[in-house]
Amino acid sequence: MRILILGGTTEASALAGLLAGRSEFSPLLSMAGRTSDPRPLPIPTRIGGFGGVDGLARFLTQERIEAVIDATHPFAAIMSRNAAEACTAAGVSLLALRRPPWSAQEGDRWIEVSSMEEAARALGDEPRRVFLTVGRLELPPFAAAPQHTYLVRTIEPIGDALPVPNVIAIQDRAPFSEAAEQALMERERVEVVVTKNSGGAATYPKIAAARVLGLPVIVVARPGKPRGVEEVASAEAAIEWLERRHGRTP
Ligand SMILES: NC(=O)c1ccc[n+]([C@@H]2O[C@H](COP(=O)([O-])OP(=O)(O)OC[C@H]3O[C@@H](n4cnc5c(N)ncnc54)[C@H](OP(=O)(O)O)[C@@H]3O)[C@@H](O)[C@H]2O)c1
Repeated sequence: MRILILGGTTEASALAGLLAGRSEFSPLLSMAGRTSDPRPLPIPTRIGGFGGVDGLARFLTQERIEAVIDATHPFAAIMSRNAAEACTAAGVSLLALRRPPWSAQEGDRWIEVSSMEEAARALGDEPRRVFLTVGRLELPPFAAAPQHTYLVRTIEPIGDALPVPNVIAIQDRAPFSEAAEQALMERERVEVVVTKNSGGAATYPKIAAARVLGLPVIVVARPGKPRGVEEVASAEAAIEWLERRHGRTP
């Protein structure tokens, strides 16, 4: 069975690992190409956009794809919408593999907002030391709040994405440990953390560390994803769906 996995996430990589070596499946993993040095995966991969809904629908037909697993990041809203429309147009089955969002625990001091612009405003007028972990492409709205000092952690260099006077840039990629997150926040005298509600274990330690340190966390809510798409929360459940759907349980 020819499967297209829309990836760029821990879950997509886990699914690739489970599908590798299963001769009844022929998976292809697709990434947008935002990371210049992605971790190697044990199945064939392709990199780059498809050219919108029409391009993806054409690709599905040309490559005789029988099932698409949308395992993109919860904030990759355009790709998920394109996948839903293209699968309908091409008559291909679609499953969304999505990690559940984080929810506030006792001791958390969350400020929930619905956009990066709102997050930047929620930092307030007084200069603060901000740990900004929202991804390189989401930095520009914070230029509207140049009074703060930003500790920015991204996978790729930030270039000129955040043109403010005080930026400390770190390049690193998940997973992170809670102890290391706490040490980083203490060393840099962080006063407030800004994060997307990405969900998953790999980047959760910053939330746990902020709780221990009693720091407020500005949490940006997820964008809407297309309705009516069947959804699972783990790579194992996606495998079960593939086996069930196509009646090929070994
Ligand atoms: N947004 C985040 O916070 C975040 C965090 C971690 C990882 N990621 C990963 O980074 C990638 C891009 O995220 P985004 O938020 O920029 O997406 P997006 O805004 O939803 O998508 C923008 C365009 O990028 C292309 N694209 C996105 N994902 C793709 C994939 N897996 N394979 C091929 N093309 C893809 C598509 O181009 P065409 O229209 O030309 O097909 C899409 O229209 C995704 O793979 C996502 O899983 C995103």
